Amino acid sequence: MITLNGLQFEEYISEEELLHAIDEVALAINRDFKGKRPVFLVVLNGAYKFATELLSRFEGDCEVEFIKMSSYDGTASTGQVQTHIPLEADLEEREVVVIEDIVDSGNTIEKITQMMVIAGVNKYCIASLFFKPGSYTKEYKIHYVGLEIPNDFIVGYGLDYNGLGRNLNAIYKLKTTKMTNLVLFGPPGAGKGTQASFLKEKYNLIHISTGDVFRYNIKSATKLGTLAKSYIDKGQLVPDTVTIDMLSAEVDKTPDANGFIFDGFPRTTAQAEALDVLLEEKGTQVAAMIALEVDDEILVKRLLERGKTSGRKDDADEAVIRNRIKVYYDETAILKGYYQKQDKYYGVDGVGEINEITTRLSSVIDKL
Ligand code: AP5
Ligand code: MG
Repeated sequence: MITLNGLQFEEYISEEELLHAIDEVALAINRDFKGKRPVFLVVLNGAYKFATELLSRFEGDCEVEFIKMSSYDGTASTGQVQTHIPLEADLEEREVVVIEDIVDSGNTIEKITQMMVIAGVNKYCIASLFFKPGSYTKEYKIHYVGLEIPNDFIVGYGLDYNGLGRNLNAIYKLKTTKMTNLVLFGPPGAGKGTQASFLKEKYNLIHISTGDVFRYNIKSATKLGTLAKSYIDKGQLVPDTVTIDMLSAEVDKTPDANGFIFDGFPRTTAQAEALDVLLEEKGTQVAAMIALEVDDEILVKRLLERGKTSGRKDDADEAVIRNRIKVYYDETAILKGYYQKQDKYYGVDGVGEINEITTRLSSVIDKL
């Protein structure tokens, strides 16, 4: 496994397989262009390595020209094809073999085809090391294909992720891990912490309660704790940047986790978006948001009861408890829609015996 710009990639296609695929493409091109003098038009940057290998196998005379184009930003195709080095050679009436590293949506191929028509070539064909039939949306024929691949993001052998990875001799694909990441959701006192303590054992997950981490910092009188206390004591949310950085540090403490139970996080859209980015960088995502649904008056009762012994200042005062519930509805409840849109929201009745509720939650988790 390798890490590029913070993302993990695992080996996918070996150098041997790549060279074998290139041998096959070279065989076909040598057959089709025997006795001719084609111009090989290399599309930089990605195709440089494929072009070097392919051209070293070409048996006749040929010319080599370059253009530079791009359509990727990070791991996503932008759909916008940009030309950085334009076509300079005169290709009128020439036979051209375009050398591409990868054809996916076909946007670059469309642009090159237009370029060939304008240049007045006699004939042109396309040789691509990789072809993604699953994402190809155009009609243009790809004449020579090294390997067909599914719709995964790959790097290596000329292909990059944000500038890195082109020098690798094998192909690597973005690592997806089978982590189970759960967001345990619900208003204050809904039972998130109570249920998380059972679920983490049952599913071997790491439980992160942002409230617990804040309270630990308050107890240890850290800078973070002092800052957080001023908000928590009033039942307000701690600012996003502080909370997101803290959560990120907590996640980093167990890089080999089977998955996480996020309890009390995310509480705002900014936090939800930050969590998506954080998990994506680990090649994983939120599996589900499971919400414990409990009436407000029951919540107040539970928290006042706990306040008698917990030492939690935010449990001691009914007005603060009610403010926490209000903040939940005003600022946090909208996240239901955020996860519903992704089909990841599950509501569970949070009233009843604690073990009954664990069973309700488990039946959701077991179906994920
Ligand atoms: P946090 O610690 O997350 O508190 P909370 O959301 O207010 O929720 P609680 O922990 O009080 O309740 P819970 O749902 O875990 O229920 P529990 O299992 O304890 O956050 C505290 C503060 O930190 C926030 O107000 C905010 O200031 C700050 N903060 C935290 N995360 C933040 C973030 N992401 N962004 C910004 N600020 C953040 O159960 C409650 C009680 O009910 C217990 O006594 C329990 O024994 C009892 N109980 C549980 N289940 C049952 C049941 N089935 N029947 C009867 N009683 C039950
Ligand atoms: Mg809690």
